[in-house]
Amino acid sequence: MYSKLWYLAIFIILFININLVTGTHGTENNNEFIQRELDIDKSDTPKKILVGSIIGGGSHLNPMLEICRILMDRGYNVTLVAPGNFTATSTLYHSIPQIITDMRKDEYVPPEVRELYFNEYNIKNYAKVVGMFTYGYPKFFNDYLQAYKEIKADLFFCDYIVNEACFDLAWKLKKPVVGYTSDFTPPPPIRSDPMGMGSCHVSMENQSFYNRFICAIVQPLRVIWAFRGLLNDINAKRVEVGVNKYHDFRGRTNTLFLLDNFFGFEVPTAWPPLHQEIGPILPDTFPNLSPELDLFLSTHPRTMYIALGSNMFTTSENYATLLQSALELINQNILDGVIWATVKFNESELPITFNLSNDDIIPISNLINNQHPHFYIMKYAPQFAILSHENTKVFLSHGGVGSGHESMYTATPMLVLPIALDQPGNAERLELTGMALKLSKLDLKVDDIISKVVRLLNEESFKMNARRMQVLAKFNSKRKYRGADLIEMVLNLANHDSSRNENGELEVDIETLLRSWVTPDSRMGFIRGNYLDVFGVALIIALVLFICLGYGFYKAALFGFRKWSLRSRESQQSLSKTKNE
Ligand SMILES: *[C@@H]1O[C@H](CO)[C@@H](O)[C@H](O)[C@H]1NC(C)=O
Ligand SMILES: *[C@@H]1O[C@H](CO)[C@@H](O)[C@H](O)[C@H]1NC(C)=O
Ligand SMILES: *[C@@H]1O[C@H](CO)[C@@H](O)[C@H](O)[C@H]1NC(C)=O
Ligand SMILES: *[C@@H]1O[C@H](CO)[C@@H](O)[C@H](O)[C@H]1NC(C)=O
Ligand SMILES: *[C@@H]1O[C@H](CO)[C@@H](O)[C@H](O)[C@H]1NC(C)=O
Repeated sequence: MYSKLWYLAIFIILFININLVTGTHGTENNNEFIQRELDIDKSDTPKKILVGSIIGGGSHLNPMLEICRILMDRGYNVTLVAPGNFTATSTLYHSIPQIITDMRKDEYVPPEVRELYFNEYNIKNYAKVVGMFTYGYPKFFNDYLQAYKEIKADLFFCDYIVNEACFDLAWKLKKPVVGYTSDFTPPPPIRSDPMGMGSCHVSMENQSFYNRFICAIVQPLRVIWAFRGLLNDINAKRVEVGVNKYHDFRGRTNTLFLLDNFFGFEVPTAWPPLHQEIGPILPDTFPNLSPELDLFLSTHPRTMYIALGSNMFTTSENYATLLQSALELINQNILDGVIWATVKFNESELPITFNLSNDDIIPISNLINNQHPHFYIMKYAPQFAILSHENTKVFLSHGGVGSGHESMYTATPMLVLPIALDQPGNAERLELTGMALKLSKLDLKVDDIISKVVRLLNEESFKMNARRMQVLAKFNSKRKYRGADLIEMVLNLANHDSSRNENGELEVDIETLLRSWVTPDSRMGFIRGNYLDVFGVALIIALVLFICLGYGFYKAALFGFRKWSLRSRESQQSLSKTKNE
């Protein structure tokens, strides 16, 4: 009887509670929730963006323009200022207006570039190539200034590479500026650029003290030394156009940077908040396979795709080795198809025939004219579509960042032949992920290529790691919207954190504008910023304590020992006394 009453009481309490929580008892009261305002009012936000690049070029500009396209969809007006007739001839980005600063002369390759690509990639050769652009600084600066006057830009979005003029103009005009880069040059000491030296690597984790010392202390000094002349040249040219000298050869890296990169591929490290990772940036659509290519791929279930980048090239000997290796791989039935795109070799510098190990002789004309049943050579290829095909088993690449991202996104194991620039570093990063092996452009061997392709095809770990990287790449590829958000954020902040000059234009103090991303240590000086004073004093206190304690112990031990030896002497004396008695 009582237990039934209990049940009833519990039931009533529960019923009342449920009603209170769900609110079903009061349908007339619907005001308990309000909708969060998702967007800010952008009606008076400045909207004109100038995008500046000196080197231009498809694979390099595409990620920047991908972000610009998102911004245009959100109502911003974007204008590209770059060499070459790029956006007009591009399928994805033709809606972006471009001010063409220079027509490209693609056929001409300066000797500095040839030297960088053919010889060891080291800091001296690299500085020579960067030096080629230093002379153009006044022209670049004036190109940007003209473009600025034409479009009255509210924000500069500057490519990082050899583009000081873009950042300088923004700072001079007091306009907000956002940088873009895929590979950042000022790394923390645990990361190093494997530039021409056996000792420096993208991860110094397992390196000896000697190597870590060289790469953290000596190598940066070498870089500063190699760039000192260029820095002086640039500063002289800065003064010519009325810009203050700036004494960091890396340029104004104290601005907000968007990094087309992601941890997992990039060695994980703590970036300053000003450097925001938003990569891999990939468009949502890609050109599809042509019917012939589709047919080739679907009838060749073990295909290797070779592409060494649209702007890179290597020696004729290396091209011959690559062709010979590809033919041997087909001949030994390790592969049954090879697609080679962005062909840059000079036919007349290659052997007329390739003699294979089974005495087959294949004339090069056979390959060039696509008469070989297992070989498909083309100038331009829909790379992403090829990599997406299940029959593409290996990608032999120069290791450009875009190719790396696409290979990870499609989980295609890679064989990387780095030529220069960020490629040696990317090759190491890809090898560390476990989805790739790398080759050396200075020591390219047919046997080495064959054995590495065999490993990539047969060892399951390469495919497994490629799938792991695919997960990271796919999730992180959504961050391009975050990149667009960051640019919007800067523009909207500028709207509330600026003054107007006599022409009614917005002017910002870039350092104040970005204060939410600037870590306080940068304002505290080297010693206080790194807490060297505090840690130094702590070390001294610890040392003093240690010495005092040690001295105390020593004194106590000495005292104890003396007492003990005194007593034992006394007892001996008393012993001998009693004996004598
Ligand atoms: C932005 O571009 C559109 C066309 O794309 C143009 O109609 C509009 O006037 C531009 N707005 C500004 C502020 O320049
Ligand atoms: C750029 O390319 C477009 C499309 O091919 C063409 O119509 C235009 O004339 C070109 N512009 C220049 C300056 O060459
Ligand atoms: C260093 O060695 C450890 C242990 O063998 C390994 O887990 C790690 O991946 C290595 N790191 C690099 C960068 O080679
Ligand atoms: C190809 O090589 C030959 C022989 O070295 C040279 O004469 C010719 O100019 C080269 N062609 C090109 C397009 O570089
Ligand atoms: C290939 O063999 C042919 C004749 O058998 C010979 O003339 C040619 O020099 C050989 N080429 C190479 C690269 O060894």
